[in-house]
Amino acid sequence: MNHRTKDFLSIREKLGESLRLAGDRALVAEGDSLSLIRRLPSHSVSLILTDPPYHSTKKHSIYGDTSFNEDSDYLAWIREYAHEWRRVLRPNGSFFCFCASDLAARLEVLFAAEFNVLSHVVWTKPNDPGFDGWKGKMKKEALRQWYPHSERIIFAEPAVDGNLHRSPFAHFLREIRKQSGLSAHALAEAIGAYGKVNHGGAVSNWETGRNIPSRDQYSKICKAVLGTGRVVSMPSYEDAVRVFRASPAGEFTDIWTFPSVRPYKGKHPAEKPAALLEHAIDATSFPGDIVLDCFAGSGSTALAAVKLGRLAVAMEIDAKWAKTIADRVGLVSNSEPISVGANSRSHLKDNARRPKRPHLPLFEAGK
Ligand SMILES: C[S@@+](CC[C@H](N)C(=O)[O-])C[C@H]1O[C@@H](n2cnc3c(N)ncnc32)[C@H](O)[C@@H]1O
Repeated sequence: MNHRTKDFLSIREKLGESLRLAGDRALVAEGDSLSLIRRLPSHSVSLILTDPPYHSTKKHSIYGDTSFNEDSDYLAWIREYAHEWRRVLRPNGSFFCFCASDLAARLEVLFAAEFNVLSHVVWTKPNDPGFDGWKGKMKKEALRQWYPHSERIIFAEPAVDGNLHRSPFAHFLREIRKQSGLSAHALAEAIGAYGKVNHGGAVSNWETGRNIPSRDQYSKICKAVLGTGRVVSMPSYEDAVRVFRASPAGEFTDIWTFPSVRPYKGKHPAEKPAALLEHAIDATSFPGDIVLDCFAGSGSTALAAVKLGRLAVAMEIDAKWAKTIADRVGLVSNSEPISVGANSRSHLKDNARRPKRPHLPLFEAGK
């Protein structure tokens, strides 16, 4: 059993009675994700792709969007998540967080305490007239700032403790090379990456985090350092490098153009487009990786993850949406949603908007 499967099973066990879906490829937990994530083992997920309430949009239809009077309270809340996100993310993992344009800068500064912020993606929506929110309808002369036509997605990798600007792989390579007694020059020669433009650069570039070795180059690195006899084992490529696959045919810049989800019966008020989520997941994770979304809404991230052959962990506080996610993700991952029993211990605070639960027995997670 590989460590991803082990981690997935361990997460499934830790989420226990909060689970509304406990399949082999997807878990859906209902509850406050700050409490739920604290139960997760450290370094157990490879990708965090999440979309918290934006706070500044003040949408009553989204749980938590109007909960904070002060921006500072919201930021303090997100800071608690940032700490947990950093803890549960594998060292070669990736992190995306959606946010509103007016809070993006403050969130970026906040995330920089735990992560290397790599991109500040601007998501712009080429929506047809009539489907572009207030953009077409509003009185332009009344504007007092540029109309916010974009949302932001902060993209980051975990930072190395004590050196926030070195990527974990860069740090790892430098340490392992030193342990092996090889100079950067000797290692570059041993793998044939010296003085060539070779998948972006040689050892010194990899050690400063400018780019990464290809799979083939990495296996040569392993052979060279193991060959010294001073290093006894090396992690697999998937466990060492942070994957990043951009394609010239797709969106490779930090401006992403994806239309919003068109209104439909049962749409989540903040539902993100599947194509955008698939683009993010495909570029930054390996098949089989665990993808975590702490604010799952309609379950769009989990659906995209399962579709791309990843393992999905979705958390959602609103019982209605948690059920929707379990139903939707259950369908695509061939697993049965778990009925919620009246006696189950819920992690939810009392919420007037929460629908009454049916009196059904709680099935054991995983069955
Ligand atoms: C911006 S929406 C996410 C929409 C989602 N990305 C989608 O595509 O459907 C935020 C979601 O977070 C949920 N939420 C708010 N506070 C939460 C908390 N403490 N724990 C878990 N979920 C929470 C809300 O109920 C809402 O569904």
